[in-house]
Amino acid sequence: MEATTFLVVEAALGEQIHALLKGNGWLNPTLEPLRPSNGSIGFPLQGVQRSETVLNTVQQHLAIEATLLEGKTRYWPPMDPHHQLSEAAETWIRNHKLDVNVHDLLPTKWEKLGQLVLFPYELGQTKAWKEVAQHPMAEALWERMAHALKASSLGLQAPIANDTYRSAQVKMLTGSPDVRFSDHGITYAFDASKVMFSSGNITERRRIGAMNMQGEVVVDAYAGVGYYTFPMLVNAGAAHVHACEINPASLAGLKRGVEANGLGERITVHAGDNARSLEGLFETADRCHLGLLPSSEPVWEACLLALKPTGGVLHIHMNVEEEKIASWTSATVDYFQNLVAHHGLRFSVQPLHVERVKWFAPRVRHVVLDLSFRP
Ligand SMILES: C[S@@+](CC[C@H](N)C(=O)[O-])C[C@H]1O[C@@H](n2cnc3c(N)ncnc32)[C@H](O)[C@@H]1O
Repeated sequence: MEATTFLVVEAALGEQIHALLKGNGWLNPTLEPLRPSNGSIGFPLQGVQRSETVLNTVQQHLAIEATLLEGKTRYWPPMDPHHQLSEAAETWIRNHKLDVNVHDLLPTKWEKLGQLVLFPYELGQTKAWKEVAQHPMAEALWERMAHALKASSLGLQAPIANDTYRSAQVKMLTGSPDVRFSDHGITYAFDASKVMFSSGNITERRRIGAMNMQGEVVVDAYAGVGYYTFPMLVNAGAAHVHACEINPASLAGLKRGVEANGLGERITVHAGDNARSLEGLFETADRCHLGLLPSSEPVWEACLLALKPTGGVLHIHMNVEEEKIASWTSATVDYFQNLVAHHGLRFSVQPLHVERVKWFAPRVRHVVLDLSFRP
């Protein structure tokens, strides 16, 4: 077997790094990870030319210690999920005597939410997929594919709707869109065909969850099904979160999550437009989370006013062109300095950190700016 480049990190961070590598298509899923020492794990990378970029992302943007290592490993025994999937599709094609290349039906990556597997939107747009989808026995293929990935339901992703709710537009192929799963000690439960759950934001969820929010009152202006609300309560130790959410389907998921995680006393759900909810949260918060893309600007002012007179922190999500991140950051600091002056607040505005969460589109990054406001 040829030598492969491995990204070596502390074993305790393995789950987080695995999700990052897989989400970006950097992981070679056919090879087994290495265990160079007791406390470390090495993930096989795909495309040697990208190794430095991967290392750079992990070291600089996530501040995680990592190294590259050349090594040899074996293929996953007995069969990795890609092989399972390939076998399932091949069997179905053979049974139905279709003239389709199996590789045209196989995704290189997918998302798994509990028992539901979601294939990428682009796969469903191919000629081969469309041909197979019209077959009267297509459902049997979807069932086989789901089963191959140890799931019971299968769907195709679709672009997030450009509506207020940022609704999911998953096309279900078989099974139920109702999902329930745990991530980092937190249970999420919702209808994946109605609300989005961005697995690509996993590193940001972990970053937010790793902060110290002991004793803090936090406002989550765009709570969704609790993507950040729950990590702030469960992992970061926030005393109370005011969770604003407008979409009835997300509110249903949020409430299921509150119950599943036993958070009843520590959360207030504000159903409806956050513009209204935030009026009632004047000077109550130590921190506000503003998690809407492409921009959370509609609530910048209201969230500033929601901070206690002792000040606090805003986490501002935004899509920004890569080369404009620095200028956007300083323009945003200026904007808030003007708002602070306009409202006669005596805060000093300091950028604490800019987190590059993921690529949103070519050259466009999803970033989070942590801004501190202190008297
Ligand atoms: C992108 S999702 C947020 C999910 C999560 N913060 C994340 O980044 O994965 C945005 C959420 O904000 C909600 N939302 C959008 N506009 C809103 C408004 N004016 N008031 C309250 N919630 C709103 C949507 O329904 C949706 O659940």
